[in-house]
Amino acid sequence: MSAAPWAAHFGLARTPFGKSIPARDLFPRPAHAEAIARISFCVVESAPCVVTGDVGAGKTVALRAAVAGLDPTSHQVIYIANPAFGTRGLYVTIVRAPGAQPRYLKAELMAQASDLLAAETAERHRRVVVILDEAHLPGPAQLEELRLLTNPEMDSASPFAGILAGQPTLNRQLRMGMFAALGQRIATRVAIKPMDLAESAACLRHHLALAGREEPLSADDAIARLHRVSNGLPRALNNAATAALIAAASGKDLVDDACAKKAVAELTRD
Ligand SMILES: Nc1ncnc2c1ncn2[C@@H]1O[C@H](COP(=O)(O)OP(=O)(O)O)[C@@H](O)[C@H]1O
Ligand SMILES: [Mg+2]
Repeated sequence: MSAAPWAAHFGLARTPFGKSIPARDLFPRPAHAEAIARISFCVVESAPCVVTGDVGAGKTVALRAAVAGLDPTSHQVIYIANPAFGTRGLYVTIVRAPGAQPRYLKAELMAQASDLLAAETAERHRRVVVILDEAHLPGPAQLEELRLLTNPEMDSASPFAGILAGQPTLNRQLRMGMFAALGQRIATRVAIKPMDLAESAACLRHHLALAGREEPLSADDAIARLHRVSNGLPRALNNAATAALIAAASGKDLVDDACAKKAVAELTRD
C-alpha cells in the first residue's frame, strides 16, 4: 500500500490511521491486550463471554486479534458480523460453517445446528467458537436462539464458546428476564474503555511509526485536542488525526493546534 499525497507530504511511506491493520500491528494498549487475553481464556474454557465498548472502542479488532491467535486446525470459528439475521439466521450460519445443508423446518434446523456443534468437538476434536458481533442489535428472539444452543443442562460443559460483543447496553439486555439464565452463565465480561490522553498520544505515534515516521509530527496541544474530540475512542481518533494531517499538508511540516482545530471543525460540521 502506498501513501496518499497528503501522507507523502510528510515523508510517510504508507497512509497512516488506516482501517486494515494486521492483528500484529494493532496498538497493544492494556485494554486491548486484556480483552484478547480474556477472550482467549473463554475459548479455552468454552465459556461464554461478553465484550462491551462504545462505537469504535476496539471490540471488533480485539475479536479479530484473539481469533488470529487460535490454531485453525483445532478451532472452528463462526463469526457473525451482521446480527440482523432472521429467526433462522443463527442456526443457518452455524450449519453452513462446516459446509452442511440447512434443513428447512425450524425445529429440525435447530437440532441439526446442535448436532453439528457437538460433532465438531466429539468427532473432529475442534473447539467451536461462535462470535456474535454487534450483539446489542438482535432482538430477544435471536438472543434466545443463542441461549437455546448453549447447553440445556446448565451444569455440564457448553458445546462451544459463545462470544458476544456489543455496545454497553448489551449488559443491560442480558440482565433482563428471559436472558437472566444466559446472563448468569457469563462469567467473563470485558469492557473496553476509551484511551486516556497518554494512550491516545502513544496510539498516534504507533500509527505514524507503522507508516514510517518515528519523529513527532504533532504538537502536544494538537494531540490533546484530537484526543478530546474523539473521547479517546480509537476510530474517532484515527479520523480526527487524518483530517488534521490533511489540513497540515497544505503548507506545514507539523500538525499544530490550528490544524487540529480545523480538523475538528470539519468533523463536527453538520
Ligand atoms: N488496538 C488498536 N490498534 C490500532 N487501531 C485500533 C485499535 N483498536 C481500534 N483501532 C482502530 O479503531 C477502529 C475501530 O475499532 P473496532 O474494533 O472496529 O471498534 P468497535 O468494534 O468497538 O466499534 C479500527 O478500525 C482501528 O482502525
Ligand atoms: Mg465492531
